[in-house]
Amino acid sequence: MAVSLAKIDDAVWSKFEIQPAANPTSEKERAAKLADPGFGRVFSDHMAIVRYNQAQGWHAARVESRANFPLDPAAAVLHYAQEIFEGLKAYKREDGGVNLFRPDANARRFQNSAERMAMAPLPEALFIEAVEQLVRIDRAWIPGGEGSLYLRPFMIASETFLGVKPSAEYIFSVIASPVGSYFKGGPAPVSIWVSENYTRAAIGGTGAVKCGGNYAASLRAQAEAIDHGCDQVVFLDAVERRYVEELGGMNIFFAFDDGSLLTPPLGTILPGITRDSILALAKKSGTPVREELYTIDQWRSDAASGKLKEAFACGTAAVISPIGKVRSASGDFLISGGAAGPVAMGMRKTLVDIQYGRAADSHNWIRNVS
Ligand SMILES: Cc1ncc(COP(=O)(O)O)c(C=O)c1O
Repeated sequence: MAVSLAKIDDAVWSKFEIQPAANPTSEKERAAKLADPGFGRVFSDHMAIVRYNQAQGWHAARVESRANFPLDPAAAVLHYAQEIFEGLKAYKREDGGVNLFRPDANARRFQNSAERMAMAPLPEALFIEAVEQLVRIDRAWIPGGEGSLYLRPFMIASETFLGVKPSAEYIFSVIASPVGSYFKGGPAPVSIWVSENYTRAAIGGTGAVKCGGNYAASLRAQAEAIDHGCDQVVFLDAVERRYVEELGGMNIFFAFDDGSLLTPPLGTILPGITRDSILALAKKSGTPVREELYTIDQWRSDAASGKLKEAFACGTAAVISPIGKVRSASGDFLISGGAAGPVAMGMRKTLVDIQYGRAADSHNWIRNVS
């Protein structure tokens, strides 16, 4: 593909033009919105936006009032779904400072996603700068307590052309959405439905990157999970239909009676930053961890024998969700009696304490936004 980094001019994008909203939300209205923001429905006043074309490379970096994008009806993204995104959070520390958790890892994953989707690669520093500029201007939108400001960087193919080929133009943007604590009163165990009709990813496909199409394709399976009274769907591998891969939007871990952890290996699954952080924390504390294939049949028999003590899902939005019940066409089974277990809860606390700056950041994961 003919996208080149050569056009990127440091001087252009390192200087974001900041144009504050002319009519920002009043303090009173913002306080009302922050009281119970839920997830993904409330948005801050601004957005960061950077444009790409082949002649200018990345240019016109701006932070401005959040507004609609004018998009031609023939814009490539609307037809061929050339789109990628990321998700990370800004956390308010007790001393009033603001932490980002591993934004460099999101920036790298965004580059991998761009490469897989034949999109213009976005420099890591530009990704982080856009996120930081938005957090700076909208810091009043970061809820206190266990809330956070969810940041959604994304890139769309904006060329007006109906031919099937990589777009020659892109829009990169970051928007921000204040979110409450994912679980009120502590994480409740989730029930999950094993999808036997649908798969999420195949070798050579796009499962390992964060493109919108993956999520569109998962919606039917998620709807099936809801129809079966479950909270989430878990996908099996596309070839043998027996290896556990991941949930619709979270990775998965298993905790055993010998104190070890297991998580499915990378390949077709999304390389979660929470997954990677749990692996690092477990290794540091001396917990044996394996990145190995694990079948649904083994899961069922380990849950029955008591060898499996806990299972939990992990991701940026909910951090860690204990899995209490698994339901499939061939029957249900419970894990740790359907209750949240100490491994999931302990790991959750360790992670959350680092994110909010309450625990030492010995892995150098926190980036302060001043
Ligand atoms: C399919 C999928 N798996 C796993 C994850 C967890 O990734 P992370 O921990 O980086 O949020 C996500 C969320 O981004 C996801 O969408």
